[in-house]
Amino acid sequence: MDQFADSGAILDWYLSVGVDEAIGELPIDRFEASRAQAARPAAVASASAPAALRPAFQPPPPRPSPAAEQAPAVANARSLAAACDTIAALEAAIRGFEGCPLKAGAANTVIADGVAGADLLLIGEAPGADEDRLGKPFVGRAGQLLDRMLAAIGRDRTRDAYIANILFWRPPANRKPDPIETATCKPFVERLIQLSQPKVLVLLGGTPAATLLATTEGITRLRGRWHEWNGIPVMPTLHPAYLLRQPLAKRDAWRDLLAVRRRLDGH
Ligand code: URA
Repeated sequence: MDQFADSGAILDWYLSVGVDEAIGELPIDRFEASRAQAARPAAVASASAPAALRPAFQPPPPRPSPAAEQAPAVANARSLAAACDTIAALEAAIRGFEGCPLKAGAANTVIADGVAGADLLLIGEAPGADEDRLGKPFVGRAGQLLDRMLAAIGRDRTRDAYIANILFWRPPANRKPDPIETATCKPFVERLIQLSQPKVLVLLGGTPAATLLATTEGITRLRGRWHEWNGIPVMPTLHPAYLLRQPLAKRDAWRDLLAVRRRLDGH
């Protein structure tokens, strides 16, 4: 193909469609993968695509299942998290935790960015390639959009917002977190919320909403309404990566953020 004669151009094209890894950590049996793909319902198959390639409408993300909650690593995470009385202690506990298999394939543990203890806490899904490389949440394209969304309500992560994720390690090829991964990280995330005591908690996308709210509803139904997590007002809204793919949905996210601003202003 002539237009790909230049190998730099083909790499640029891969990056622009979200293909950011040339090799995985494990060998893949492509014959088996394509047989399995053919046997799976289309919606389930789409959930494992890289974030930039996922279609607009997705099935609700898997919630931590009762079986996953029983795993020994989850019990260990719970007791480690409960023993932390400060955010600094919690960060150290997360960095030292070896119970999540994603850690082995990640370059960095990505915990939070911004002002710890700010009255606005935002929680996303999981680190992507940029976040994994730099060790901070939301520093790639979705993060840049998130910064603009925050600026639109007069907020800035360097001054008055705190940002974290449901997972602390990047899933391979940005696939959706699985139930055991979310169940394992959840005790630490819950402790982070307890220690931060924000005035408003914003959940970015379906994964944090399904993990922290006791509901099976998808993000398009949950967003725009106030929920509660242990007495803290919660606004689920659309994930900035989704907004990059569906710019028209920015209208809805804007409405959600206005509600957040009103709440933060005490209205
Ligand atoms: N998407 C997320 O959910 N979190 C990040 O940190 C980056 C992209």
